[in-house]
Amino acid sequence: MLSRPRRRPDQLRSSRFFAPDDLRSFGHRSRQKQSGFATEEFSGRPVVAILNTGNDLISCHAHFRQRVDDIRRGIWQAGGFPVEVPVLGLSETFMKPTSMFYRNLLAMETEEVLRAHPVDAAVLMGGCDKTVPALLMGALSADVPSIVMPGGPMNRSRWRGRTLGSGSDVWRCWADRQAGRLSCADWSDLEDHIAPSAGHCMTMGTASTMTSLAEAMGMCLPGAASIPAVHAAHARMAAATGRQAVELAWHDVRPSQILTEAAFDNAIAVLMALGGSTNAIVHLLALAGRAGVPLPLEKFDAVSHDIPVLANLQPAGTYVMEDFFEAGGLPGLMARIRDRLHTDAVTVAGQSLGQAVAEAPVYDEDVIRLPDSPVARHSLAVLRGNLCPDGAIIKTAAASDHLLQHTGPAIVFSDYADLKKRLDDPRTQITPDHVMVLQNAGPVGGPGFPEWGMLPLPKSLLEQGIRDLVRISDARMSGTSFGTCVLHVAPEAAVGGPLALVRDGDRICLDVPARRLDVQVDEAELTRRRHAWQPPPKRFSRGYGRLLETEITQACDGCDFRFLEADGSVTPDPDIF
Ligand code: FES
Repeated sequence: MLSRPRRRPDQLRSSRFFAPDDLRSFGHRSRQKQSGFATEEFSGRPVVAILNTGNDLISCHAHFRQRVDDIRRGIWQAGGFPVEVPVLGLSETFMKPTSMFYRNLLAMETEEVLRAHPVDAAVLMGGCDKTVPALLMGALSADVPSIVMPGGPMNRSRWRGRTLGSGSDVWRCWADRQAGRLSCADWSDLEDHIAPSAGHCMTMGTASTMTSLAEAMGMCLPGAASIPAVHAAHARMAAATGRQAVELAWHDVRPSQILTEAAFDNAIAVLMALGGSTNAIVHLLALAGRAGVPLPLEKFDAVSHDIPVLANLQPAGTYVMEDFFEAGGLPGLMARIRDRLHTDAVTVAGQSLGQAVAEAPVYDEDVIRLPDSPVARHSLAVLRGNLCPDGAIIKTAAASDHLLQHTGPAIVFSDYADLKKRLDDPRTQITPDHVMVLQNAGPVGGPGFPEWGMLPLPKSLLEQGIRDLVRISDARMSGTSFGTCVLHVAPEAAVGGPLALVRDGDRICLDVPARRLDVQVDEAELTRRRHAWQPPPKRFSRGYGRLLETEITQACDGCDFRFLEADGSVTPDPDIF
């Protein structure tokens, strides 16, 4: 990859801002000097933007201030000029209605920040769920040399003799609390232990999945995604990432050269071996849409059929990311599926993926399993049927085997507010045979595609020890969630998809082996209901919400904005203006 010739200083993009003897460049140079830098410190050197998604409301990135300094150190060492540029932090825990509502906003900000400024390369600092896909989408569209610095998972937490997984154990303990098995004091004590350090969720949730896929696609240094956030190795990795960003600038290695069809194939293979989050499907579809790489939904099903889950990580398995790191991390896992990867795919590290994972050891075979003793045979399945003509997803590795073929009567909630209001109403009468249906929780209906897909179970069933039911929605679910939850139903109810037509008592048939999801209502009746259907009122008359409501694509297309997908045209570089 770095066999591409090294550019001369006058070929750097930033030289177009700093080098000319004209009035505009005088302004650029004089204002850089205003910041206290002499000409020789910034001119003729690669300017590397550090895109920092840290802020005080994104606790998963609490260590980013220090990491910015570590990255700066690396950039200076390699002869570059570091500039920190804060960008929107997408806090999974603090943003409403959902951080996914704002993923495309960060993607747009990333693209325009890189395009507008004198930037030769970028370090993309991401971790918490939507930050990495958003940064990658924006960097790919700007096509400025970029490298991801994965934020790293938080430390393992021990509580009352057992390992806690952020996310997964919250759901489990909440169910216990609802069932009266966990006291108020226990719940409060759990609050003190569930998130023991800086770093993103330490299970194989969306954050660990997306940082791992960034590495599998060649967008960060080998091994970087598995390093715990507060480990000293993480600071060293950050500095090395800064050094490598300077190399990328000199050699003009762009995301479009890394994010090829082979890179997407590698990401999907690794997603399955990790038993990763279903959210990754949406993000990879969006990224593929920007890359112009064809990516049919069925490809995920086909790869899932071929590659078993080897990472024994919560929520599908037992361990957490710190165990994974100590067991050999992502390079160890990728070495195990080496024959399923495009090993000649190039990476930002200056070597092929095959070179990056060659001979990578595995130190614990219970954490990173051999293919003949997997955690689960398959990770997920893509469903089609009259309820989801454009597809739906089920994470089979986190579902109950006995529910994978199930037919039962629907109990329908028209939106999330209706679910909250009626869930525990004795008149609602949910039985273990029921199929719970949540409408209007998709990309438009949510709005913003919230993580409501693991519908809560009613207290009456929890008290009986029932922990799972078939649940269907057009929502997503957290990567840390589990259960027999059919997700991403497309088209969604809010745009008139068949999910909007389901009524209480309709028989719904889920048949995962046959990849089918159907409502057993005759076509004439569905047509009658379709004609009577009224779209929910629009929520936004202005602002970003209106943009999202009018432009967001469906789950099967990645939920990007239509006007941001690749259309073969080239956006003009602003320095022509
Ligand atoms: Fe940030 Fe889970 S809350 S990754």
